[in-house]
Amino acid sequence: MDGKKTGAYRDENGQLHLVSTTCSHLGCTVRWNDAERSWDCPCHGSRFNYDGDVLDGPAVHPLNTPDTE
Ligand code: FES
Repeated sequence: MDGKKTGAYRDENGQLHLVSTTCSHLGCTVRWNDAERSWDCPCHGSRFNYDGDVLDGPAVHPLNTPDTE
């Protein structure tokens, strides 16, 4: 591990979805929102789906996907 934080979401089919929890906007740590099944950033309100795609800005880039072998 290189010290980066990873978030994991397991969907109803048992598939694991891993994302970096470092917000692609300015680097705050996103938090899992269980009600919405999204990664929410507390700093400026960006939201990402469980695959890290942007739901709401200001972020324009998806969350990084950690390397998994
Ligand atoms: S750092 Fe996440 S929205 Fe700005």
